Amino acid sequence: MQVPQIRAATFDDEDALGHLDRVTWSTLHSVQERPRQPYEPFFNERYGPRDHLVAELAGTVVGYVRVVRPTPLACNGHVRQIQGLAVADEARGTGVARALLRAAQDEARRRGARRLTLRVLGHNTPARKLYESEGFVVEGVLPGEFLLDGAYVDDVLMGRRL
Ligand SMILES: CC(C)(COP(=O)(O)OP(=O)(O)OC[C@H]1O[C@@H](n2cnc3c(N)ncnc32)[C@H](O)[C@@H]1OP(=O)(O)O)[C@@H](O)C(=O)NCCC(=O)NCCS
Repeated sequence: MQVPQIRAATFDDEDALGHLDRVTWSTLHSVQERPRQPYEPFFNERYGPRDHLVAELAGTVVGYVRVVRPTPLACNGHVRQIQGLAVADEARGTGVARALLRAAQDEARRRGARRLTLRVLGHNTPARKLYESEGFVVEGVLPGEFLLDGAYVDDVLMGRRL
């Protein structure tokens, strides 16, 4: 099995990451509307390449993780939050997300963070299992926070110390 290569994103990843985001969209993990043309740019004023790590298999982009500061407050500066994680369908189940998550933890530590948090939908079993296996614990639940495909879905807050 190939080992995914993890690297910092660059502006050249715009098309590949935009495409990946669109083809992996589903209500299992997204609370945004299904992307429609004209598509929003992947990178924008809020989220730039420096907020993303990219996974490649044989030179092809197959996944990314977005890690940002949850707020600009100085008193919140020791926290980073995962605000996006996706792996291409054909590359799933081969350890790509785990490699991205571990690299994200290393990078957050390198930038001085002491805590890493995230939000995951209650019905997203693959992601929840992944996060639990990487040491994240449930720190709160917003019950029935989102109405998706006719069902109320919990918003689960998870975090871990770095
Ligand atoms: C969740 C997601 C990122 C996992 O990516 P992946 O590369 O397939 O995950 P990995 O191969 O690294 O698997 C790592 C662990 O995740 C868990 N996992 C992954 N897929 C799973 C599945 N279908 N069912 C249950 N657990 C699963 C397992 O604990 C697995 O460890 P194991 O292989 O030792 O059992 C991927 O399914 C995805 O892109 N989903 C859509 C986007 C999404 O849900 N993002 C998270 C938003 S909060």
